[in-house]
Amino acid sequence: MIPGFSTPRLRALGSWIVGSLVAVICAALLFAWSGLYNIAASSGHLAMTRAFLEFGMRNSVRTQSAMIEAPALDDDVDRVRLGAGHYQGGCAPCHGAPGEPVNPIAEHMLPPPPTLAPHVKSWQDKHLFWIVKHGMKYTGMPAWASQNRDDEVWAVVAFLRRLPDLTPEEYRDLAYGNASAQRRPVTALLSSGSDTPDIAACAKCHGTKSAGPTSNLVPRLAGQSEPYLAQALRDYADNSRQSGIMEPIAAELDEQTVKAVAAYYAGLRRNQDPRPEPSLTGEHDAGEKIARDGVADEAIPSCLSCHGENAAERYPRLAGQPQRYLALQLRLFRSGVRANTEQARTMAAIAKRMSDRQIEQVSAYFGSLRSFSLQPDERDAALTAPEKQGANQ
Ligand code: HEC
Ligand code: HEC
Ligand code: HEC
Repeated sequence: MIPGFSTPRLRALGSWIVGSLVAVICAALLFAWSGLYNIAASSGHLAMTRAFLEFGMRNSVRTQSAMIEAPALDDDVDRVRLGAGHYQGGCAPCHGAPGEPVNPIAEHMLPPPPTLAPHVKSWQDKHLFWIVKHGMKYTGMPAWASQNRDDEVWAVVAFLRRLPDLTPEEYRDLAYGNASAQRRPVTALLSSGSDTPDIAACAKCHGTKSAGPTSNLVPRLAGQSEPYLAQALRDYADNSRQSGIMEPIAAELDEQTVKAVAAYYAGLRRNQDPRPEPSLTGEHDAGEKIARDGVADEAIPSCLSCHGENAAERYPRLAGQPQRYLALQLRLFRSGVRANTEQARTMAAIAKRMSDRQIEQVSAYFGSLRSFSLQPDERDAALTAPEKQGANQ
């Protein structure tokens, strides 16, 4: 026992502490009940409150992100470009961007979303990753729409690192890529009201008739089969295919627009896009063998049996897709992230049998193929020919 404190004294102290706590809680409840606290965003915070909240926020981010290991992001142009494309639609409306004003509604949030360029320097990569992935309670800063797509969050971080040094022109080049139209929201597609969709909102990442995707992490849509494209958009919209980048975009498209966009891209030829061959070593030949014959010992089937030019329409074409995109998707199938639909489970079962090496090899092979060799109308003819139809199911 502590000298000078008898048991009755300790009891009295205990009752006093409990009594005071109850009084404080009652006072707090009474204050909340009275409605005297002004929650108006328009009234702002006292300087002291602001400093206290900022102090708590910075420490929380540092502690919560302590165990995260950042990948090397320097000079990763694919990540920077994809991150920029997303930033323009998903972050700039609140945080603004070089040469672009902040939405006036966002300016009147409390706390207001800060202009990020000066803030980015005070955070390490892992801190930014944590903020973008998890968002912040009570501030309006949203969490990433798909919690198991860390790869996408890192793309945004790679872009944020570049943000402080960008001129408005450099920003426009990164964020809008090949798209001629600028500051075009996805809703522009919906209001276009014609059968030929206005694809500017998609072109900034997926490219146009004459140019491929802006990043090797973005798939080519040109020449892909129409049912596959439409189904992919529906899968994103109902959250059965996970992507914090595509889910919010697809959720805004109605069925008529989905069909129109899918038909538009399916009608484009792929080989209008001259671009350098990926660097190919011996991997390419090994990849071609897997694509054609599979690996019998490991129960890996021939990829071309489902993904060849004359395969069923619901299977995607892989020829000419960026190597990095293909390898990424194979890993997503393998880890079960992309395995929530019947179609995706078919593919996931195959990817689970593949090693990292085989994934790289087969992606190098398909990435090196320039295009589908058939014109869209020739392909339709091939597909309706009875002998071909059954052969490749
Ligand atoms: C709906 C508006 C909104 C959107 C959309 C939004 N943010 Fe925020 N963000 C906020 C608000 C509000 C804060 C302020 C938090 C504070 O000051 O405590 C914030 C804070 C941040 C911070 C911390 C800044 C600092 O140092 O205080 C970063 C980094 C950030 N956002 C990045 C992003 C990125 C990247 C995106 C897009 C993927 C994004 N935000 C989308 C509202 C938004
Ligand atoms: C910010 C960049 C960006 C924008 C803008 C964008 N996309 Fe995407 N899109 C992506 C990325 C990245 C993926 C791959 C996502 C994944 O991992 O599943 C993708 C995937 C897709 C796929 C699946 C393709 C496949 O081979 O499986 C379709 C279809 C698609 N997007 C259509 C669209 C349409 C239509 C629009 C315009 C309304 C659009 N996208 C706008 C980046 C973008
Ligand atoms: C039995 C048919 C079948 C075989 C064999 C098959 N796949 Fe697939 N694959 C599919 C289906 C179905 C999908 C579409 C999944 C979805 O809708 O999410 C797909 C999708 C893919 C995708 C994603 C394409 C995109 O645009 O996002 C890649 C990459 C892929 N397969 C690679 C391969 C490779 C490599 C092989 C050979 C080792 C292979 N597949 C063998 C059925 C097959």
